[in-house]
Amino acid sequence: MALRTRFTETFGVEHPIVQGGMMWVGRAELAAAVSEAGGLGIITALTQPTPDDLRREIDRAREITDKPIGVNVTILPSINPPPYQDYVKAIIESGVKIVETAGSNPEPFLPYYKEAGIKVLHKCTSVRHALKAQKIGVDGVSIDGFECAGHPGEDDVPGLILIPAAAKALDIPVIASGGIADARGLVAALALGADGVNMGTRFMITQESAVHENVKNAVVERTERDTQLIFRTLHNTARVAANEISAKVVEIEKAGGTFEDVKDLVAGARGRRVFEEGDLNAGIWTAGQVQGLIDDVPTCAELIDRMVSEAEELIKSRLAGMLA
Ligand SMILES: Cc1cc2nc3c(=O)[nH]c(=O)nc-3n(C[C@H](O)[C@H](O)[C@H](O)COP(=O)(O)O)c2cc1C
Repeated sequence: MALRTRFTETFGVEHPIVQGGMMWVGRAELAAAVSEAGGLGIITALTQPTPDDLRREIDRAREITDKPIGVNVTILPSINPPPYQDYVKAIIESGVKIVETAGSNPEPFLPYYKEAGIKVLHKCTSVRHALKAQKIGVDGVSIDGFECAGHPGEDDVPGLILIPAAAKALDIPVIASGGIADARGLVAALALGADGVNMGTRFMITQESAVHENVKNAVVERTERDTQLIFRTLHNTARVAANEISAKVVEIEKAGGTFEDVKDLVAGARGRRVFEEGDLNAGIWTAGQVQGLIDDVPTCAELIDRMVSEAEELIKSRLAGMLA
């Protein structure tokens, strides 16, 4: 069985399930496994040190699957901004047809994507930003609720409210993101008016994800209470896995510290060590509250197959069975 929605139609994907961009995690093997299983796998552009490395990563994914693959381009404030234009050029020249944009307004790059026939899925955290994205011509939006891993924005509106509010306000396909790990989340998102789901933390904890086993085991054991919000005082909130470093960062922030005071603690290179070496306190690493719903490490195909078949069961039996 397949679930057909406006998202699957517009983006040419079999199932309405997206693997969101993930720094240090969204590599070829993971993205290709998700796409091969009928979802939309997304390679994270900036995990590759150069645009040429990104070209090679896309080629590697293509060796594993010939189904559609997307690339995430996240534009965040940065002391040394990467050469975004060159990454975008690499994506276009590689023939990728779906881009996930995030972080800031994708408008400067939209004409290039459009000209290349690329569908753009913009990820944001509020209805007003989603409306803006629709206005400038993106093809769909992913909306991250407050429960999500990574940057939930500053409005603190959870998905249960944000998703239906967005679905009501928008005409383009809406993907629900944040807090989804299984068929229950998928069916709930569809009931709220979404056209599909985006998952980060859940796909990080799969066989094809290259993160260290210690990270996978930790997420399986952790509960929904084991995340922490850092950078609140800087108005650049990030939801991360609670650990010694996140606690230190919040302590410094509470004492009136600036970004300069936490810069070394939050360095990307330290976070990368968590994923590569498995030292859970080496740095900041991203995970969402949905950790509380994750209790195994399936392959991407097992995960997607069971989400789709259990969704069918939920709709046909549980929900239909409630009709008196
Ligand atoms: C390890 C990790 C790294 C992430 N890095 C990025 C990123 O670079 N760009 C981005 O747009 N989103 C990033 N995200 C957010 C995900 O794409 C997705 O929006 C989020 O995980 C959804 O919440 P969930 O984890 O509850 O499913 C990251 C998430 C995780 C878990």
